[in-house]
Amino acid sequence: MNKADVLLGLQWGDEGKGKIVDVLTPAYDIIARFQGGPNAGHTLEFNGIKHVLHTIPSGIFHPTAVNVVGNGVVIDPVIFKKELDALAALKVDVKSKLMISRRAHLILPTHRLLDAASEASKGKNKIGSTLKGIGPTYMDKTGRNGLRIGDIETKEFKEKYDALVEKHKQLLSYHNFEYNLAELEPTWFEAIDYLKQLQFVDTEHYVNNAIKAGKKILAEGAQGSLLDIDFGSYPFVTSSNTICAGACNGLGIAPNRIGNVIGIFKAYCTRVGSGPFPTELDNPIGEKMRQIGREFGSTTGRPRRTGWLDIPALKYAITINGVTELMMMKADVLSDFESLDICTHYLHNGKKIDYLPYNIDPKYLQPVYTTVKGWSVDLTGVTDKGKLPKELMDYIKFIEKETETPITIVSVGPDRTQTIRM
Ligand code: GDP
Ligand code: IMO
Ligand code: MG
Repeated sequence: MNKADVLLGLQWGDEGKGKIVDVLTPAYDIIARFQGGPNAGHTLEFNGIKHVLHTIPSGIFHPTAVNVVGNGVVIDPVIFKKELDALAALKVDVKSKLMISRRAHLILPTHRLLDAASEASKGKNKIGSTLKGIGPTYMDKTGRNGLRIGDIETKEFKEKYDALVEKHKQLLSYHNFEYNLAELEPTWFEAIDYLKQLQFVDTEHYVNNAIKAGKKILAEGAQGSLLDIDFGSYPFVTSSNTICAGACNGLGIAPNRIGNVIGIFKAYCTRVGSGPFPTELDNPIGEKMRQIGREFGSTTGRPRRTGWLDIPALKYAITINGVTELMMMKADVLSDFESLDICTHYLHNGKKIDYLPYNIDPKYLQPVYTTVKGWSVDLTGVTDKGKLPKELMDYIKFIEKETETPITIVSVGPDRTQTIRM
């Protein structure tokens, strides 16, 4: 039975999903995003071009692959239009190979305002949201108030829009939030008009017919497993299911039609926004990692928090997703460290455990490390597995043994070519 593969992040996002989807696309007919929205920033680098995608799947630069924006995705038409314009400037033919699910929900200007109002009201407990309106849009989806791509094709679109905005205005006044909607609406409606030239599709049929016809499909996740609404470090999470099951919900693929699950992780950890981060290095070592790894958000430019690799968290993500193979990113960034710490256990209320528990607040949980030797070799030009230093091979073997999962790709730089098949 033909099955769809899923590729997703195992940490707090920004693992390098965009780069790897781009690398793998030649082996696939369809690349499909299944959740999240413009909170994502997926970076691709090739032929001297560096490009960041937010909503459009990372297969878009390949000549033949069809790119699907699934029903689980939330779309901000204004950002989507900007993405389309940026691709047009690079002469990428988008119209023929991009389709959007009619069931995908729309981010309204008032969703963004509500996101800002909600964060402001949380004060020091704020989530650190990207402020793209993600939370409020998914709230309207589950609250059964949302506006969808398919609504654009109906006569009642403006009426439905007005009704939803009326609700939002009441919420904004409850928050005492000042705003100027008249400034935002014209651009939003222009962008809606612009989107009409794209293919709005019942993608659940398209995807399932493609699976039946033997086409190769790769579902591209956004964010990471530790930001999942159910299994992440709640409430410091995003508002969608970022895990493998999200690909079933977000595309209409049945669980028994999921094939390989490719888990992407950094050789260390990063997190952007608030929330607990057990192995965080809030010190000069962490700063060095941030500088070498250029750890600044692809969407917001915020500095990313950095820390050592966290094996119990990785094992947790592997289990929840059913990961069949791992890909380790940014190995090159660790080249300048004499020794490396790897978190293998936690002290949880004073007891040593090897799994990620419910509460990972630093008050209750501290990391326990094993120290290994670094490799001090510039990896960025290495293309051959045989040329990797022994210490890095030991690091890889250690992770494979702990996680009982093979690492099939090691990435040693942001460019397409800086990718080593293991
Ligand atoms: P995504 O959200 O998972 O697609 O990841 P982002 O694009 O937000 O962040 C990953 C960042 O690391 C981007 O700037 C990539 O260009 C860069 N990157 C990806 N792989 C590597 C790698 O192996 N080494 C280095 N140094 N940078 C990488
Ligand atoms: P990609 O796909 C890293 C984080 C935000 C914040 C929390 C909630 O590029 O890996 P939201 O805007 O969803 O309400 O923010 O989630 N976050 C991400 N962090 N990478 C992402 O996406 C993220 N998308 C959201 O920083 O902490
Ligand atoms: Mg990113």
